[in-house]
Amino acid sequence: MGEVKLSIFGFGNVGRATARVLLEKERVFKEKYGVSFKVVSISDRSGTVWLPEGMDLREVLNVKEAFGRLSAWSNDYEVYEFSPMEAVKEIDADIVIDVTNDKNAWEWHMEALKRGRAVVTSNKPPLAFHYAELTAEAGRRELPYLFEATVMAGTPIIGLLRETLLADSIEGIEGVLNGTTTYILTKMEEGVPLEEALKGAQRLGIAEHDPSGDILGFDAGYKATILHCLAFEPITFDEIEIRGIDGLPLEDVQRVRKEGKTLRLVASIERGSVSVEPKELPKESPLAVSSTQNAALIKTDLLGELLIRGAGAGLKETASGVVSDVITATIRLRGG
Ligand SMILES: NC(=O)c1ccc[n+]([C@@H]2O[C@H](COP(=O)([O-])OP(=O)(O)OC[C@H]3O[C@@H](n4cnc5c(N)ncnc54)[C@H](OP(=O)(O)O)[C@@H]3O)[C@@H](O)[C@H]2O)c1
Repeated sequence: MGEVKLSIFGFGNVGRATARVLLEKERVFKEKYGVSFKVVSISDRSGTVWLPEGMDLREVLNVKEAFGRLSAWSNDYEVYEFSPMEAVKEIDADIVIDVTNDKNAWEWHMEALKRGRAVVTSNKPPLAFHYAELTAEAGRRELPYLFEATVMAGTPIIGLLRETLLADSIEGIEGVLNGTTTYILTKMEEGVPLEEALKGAQRLGIAEHDPSGDILGFDAGYKATILHCLAFEPITFDEIEIRGIDGLPLEDVQRVRKEGKTLRLVASIERGSVSVEPKELPKESPLAVSSTQNAALIKTDLLGELLIRGAGAGLKETASGVVSDVITATIRLRGG
């Protein structure tokens, strides 16, 4: 498989960062892995640009950045009004990349697998609600279904649990998996009220478009659910306990700080139980991360305690996870 056809869904921050990495590292990927990627379609909510011969990513990036929507393009390429489901059925691709925030995307992930396409995604809800069905379908068809960027962006916790720690039995995982709440709690420690700290996070582009998922703990909950599915057995997001940082009094955060500790939104994952809640941590705890850093402490029977810490958000950091998965999927598709 020298040339691999990619169909990209979502051309927001992560979609465009993914396109940039594919563009900038084209030669490296060719030399290192002997592979060329041909992007045959890109979709946003306004439309799908589809060119079976492959498109010039520079041009598509220019159009999206200049006009904000792919449907603005009318010159060289056809723009189609497909739903993602129609696009998956219609467009011939080896790998479908979902970098949307479409909560119902699991339906078209499933369709992609049924049509023999590998799937790479950074979108959490499909896995947090349908992990068992999706991975079973991929397994039946021997197709890659990869999701490194769903948890800790490109910091490879998924690969660690899925590919590396194969001899170990996981005993538990504790993690700080949402950078927005870490940023807000750090600001609250400095005396800034939650609403104001949230506005700051939005200005910096750290918070999701709809920040309620961060504040209420849903984002960390999706990620913790995915980690449970990998480390133990499949569960769904409906089965977990979540308490976010909404309504957390400023005085509480400052009191914890005065006591020489720090508050973080911590996900605790054990067999059959997942909870997300604000917890007091000693300042020197490895989970007392700052900014958009994430950290997870994994306990196993053989290795003992293992700490993984790194970027939990960011554009090139998330694109690292997405494109690494695209390369892994390619290697597997060609039988490696
Ligand atoms: N940003 C990060 O640091 C990060 C880290 C890890 C994971 N993620 C996850 O990665 C995904 C993308 O994040 P992002 O920051 O790039 O979000 P974003 O900037 O809001 O981009 C989302 C993109 O998806 C498109 N989209 C949504 N529904 C669609 C549909 N039904 N069909 C076609 N396109 C659709 C949007 O179209 P329009 O452009 O027309 O609105 C937009 O281009 C999310 O699931 C997010 O949770 C993000």
